[in-house]
Amino acid sequence: MKVLGIESSCDECSAAIVEDGKILSHVIASQIPLHAKYGGVVPELASRAHIVDIVEVFKGAFKEAGVDRNEIDGVAVTKGPGLIGSLLVGIEAAKAFAYAQNIPLVGVHHTEGHLLAPLLGTADGMEKPAFPFVGLVVSGGHTNLIAVRGVGQYEGIGHSIDDAAGEALDKVGKMIGVPYPGGVHIDKLAVGGNPHAFEFPRALPQHDNFDFSFSGLKTSVATQLRRIGHIPEGQELSDLCASVLEAVVDSLARKTIRAAKKIGAQTVVVAGGVSANRRLRERLKNDCANEGLRLSIPPLKLCTDNAAMIAGLGTFQLRPLVEAHKGFEAFDMQPLPGWELV
Ligand code: KG4
Ligand code: ZN
Repeated sequence: MKVLGIESSCDECSAAIVEDGKILSHVIASQIPLHAKYGGVVPELASRAHIVDIVEVFKGAFKEAGVDRNEIDGVAVTKGPGLIGSLLVGIEAAKAFAYAQNIPLVGVHHTEGHLLAPLLGTADGMEKPAFPFVGLVVSGGHTNLIAVRGVGQYEGIGHSIDDAAGEALDKVGKMIGVPYPGGVHIDKLAVGGNPHAFEFPRALPQHDNFDFSFSGLKTSVATQLRRIGHIPEGQELSDLCASVLEAVVDSLARKTIRAAKKIGAQTVVVAGGVSANRRLRERLKNDCANEGLRLSIPPLKLCTDNAAMIAGLGTFQLRPLVEAHKGFEAFDMQPLPGWELV
């Protein structure tokens, strides 16, 4: 079964063709340069850029796969959560294609796509996850610990009560004057830095608390920057970035391992943009090895926003529709910008 996946929830416009869990093509048009000068995603600009990019990513996905449009069995598109204008572009493009081909269209949950992305592929020789697993979804919009007992069987264990981990890193990035997205630059700058040079708080440390909070970290960075009296450079900047990252990674890793033990999972999955982070990967690799847990992280291209994960997840939902020879019925599909998974 060949599925066309479409993702346009934020600032990446992406299309991919996935056949029974195998990625045939995967095209991403990133808008990072467009938004960088504003220090964050400008929703109005994002939706306008999607209108232009979507045609090219569609064409690119078909060309790369060497697949004709008549070979596609079903379409999956991100229905939410995300920016409403951006979501609308992907949904309407998906509707147009599925209507023209008279094939089924499903709208899928973006975070669920991240969570199941390692089923499509993993990095560094890691194994694909087996159920049940604990999923840590860490992105610019989400920090969630989720018990995953099967596709569609989720239970929330914890979440951030204020900023998402990626959002906090992006905001710190703004304070220290690095381009958007700050998380990516902090990751690079932290290499060679001393993670203990600055003291930053770890919020909600109680053993039975699985929630996260990163607003105190932000305040603490602002306070320390005021104390120093300048924006650090060189080694001092590396030390600051390494220390900020250490505080974020420490909270994420500790609670993830504890959550795995709590639900009796053998596997830990990490997904979402922040799972690209080197320090987070290294720390979880060590912690999981020490605790006898398997770690499953997707390759970089499947960590940040992408349509392959949407097609992969959509395959599960489309299969019964395709087998029942359903045509296009999703005329009234609407974006759900605030859709909660658990
Ligand atoms: O999943 P994603 O592409 O989009 C959302 O759904 O939010 O995640 C983007 C987030 C941004 O906050 C970005 O700074 C962060 O992921 N990010 C990273 C790294 N790569 C992306 N944070 C730390 N280290 C990275 N290497
Ligand atoms: Zn995402």
